[in-house]
Formats: sequence, C-alpha cells, structure tokens
Amino acid sequence: MWFKDDPAFHTLYPVELSQMARRHWTPLLVARKAARFLVTQPGDRILDIGSGAGKFCLAAARECPQGKFTGIEQRRNLVDYANQALEITGLTNVEFLHGNITDLNFKDFDHFYFYNSFYEYIVDSEKIDDQISFSSDLFNYYSHYLYKQLCKAPEGTRLVTYHSLETEIPPSFQLVATEINDQLKFWVKL
Ligand SMILES: C[S@@+](CC[C@H](N)C(=O)[O-])C[C@H]1O[C@@H](n2cnc3c(N)ncnc32)[C@H](O)[C@@H]1O
Repeated sequence: MWFKDDPAFHTLYPVELSQMARRHWTPLLVARKAARFLVTQPGDRILDIGSGAGKFCLAAARECPQGKFTGIEQRRNLVDYANQALEITGLTNVEFLHGNITDLNFKDFDHFYFYNSFYEYIVDSEKIDDQISFSSDLFNYYSHYLYKQLCKAPEGTRLVTYHSLETEIPPSFQLVATEINDQLKFWVKL
C-alpha cells in the first residue's frame, strides 16, 4: 500500500517530513527507474549518497529485491525516520547508516545514486533544517570529495543523478541516457 503512489508513501513519515518531499525526497517513479538501471546482477550493492529520510532506498529496494541498498545520512533524526519506515515496510535489503559520506569506503559499493545532496550548502531557500553549517566551501569540499571517489571507481560502475549540477561527475563517466526533462541522468564509468 505504501508504494502505490507518492502520497501513500509519505504516510510513513510525520507530516512535517512529508511536506519536504517535493523539494528533498526522490519521487517514486524516479527511484524505480534509477533502481532498474543500477542493479545489474543479484547482490549488487547500491549507495544512496545522502539518504535523507530513506525514500530512495526504500522505493528502490522494493523495486529491485535482488539489490542491496545502503543510505548514508548526516542528520540523526532523518536516519531514525528512515529506520522507522524500514521497519514498517518490512524490507530486508536496505540499511541506513548515520554519518558523513567521508566516513565511508566507496569501494564497498558497486553503483551509486545521487540526488543533488550538496545543493543545500549553497542555496538560501527551502533548507531541511539548520542543524548543519552551510557554505560554498562545504559545497566545493563535498563535491570534490565525491568526484575523487568516483575517479577511483572501477570500469562499469553505474551512477544515477537527479537534479545534479554535475560538478561531482568525472569525465570518465559517460552519459548513456536521460529522462524527465534531462533532470534524471544515467551514467556508466568507462
Ligand atoms: C536532497 S536529500 C535526498 C534524500 C534521498 N537521497 C532521497 O532522494 O530521498 C539530500 C540529503 O543528503 C544529506 N547530506 C548532504 N551532505 C551530506 C554529507 N556530507 N554526508 C551525509 N549526508 C549528507 C542531507 O542531510 C540530505 O538529507
């Protein structure tokens, strides 16, 4: 029932969180398309870089039960909401980690999803909250960090971006398809 459409999914969250969905959480249609591209074989490990309240991972895990989905999120309360939603849905191929993307070893993952997670460091409106610091320095730092991780990824690594500014994507990633007015992009490392 939660995966019927976006409003149904948002009933997994408190009202204030569901009100952020339009701006901050991946639409179900996007998550499904991304999951089908990212999971190429059983057991593929997918990382959501900045997983928020867990919507991408949960929807993707439901769409592709043969994939394993991990979300890393710096805001503790969002990780708690994601874990509550995970428990309700009963999905077993998802985990949520509390931490910074810089805490992770990207080699532990096969493919990646990125919904413009660093944009909030440089935009003034519609922030999730004021728990963290915002600055263009942080935007540049995290974008460059992700760029370097993706440079080290092996050939064949897949990446899906949604509303990305593309500063974090190395030239070694080839754009293979776009959808939703070019906002959803599918990339493969050469
Ligand atoms: C636009 S939301 C996307 C949420 C989720 N991927 C989805 O699509 O439903 C981006 C999230 O990235 C998180 N984030 C930003 N920078 C981060 C960092 N350096 N480490 C961990 N999480 C980060 C933010 O806290 C925010 O919750």
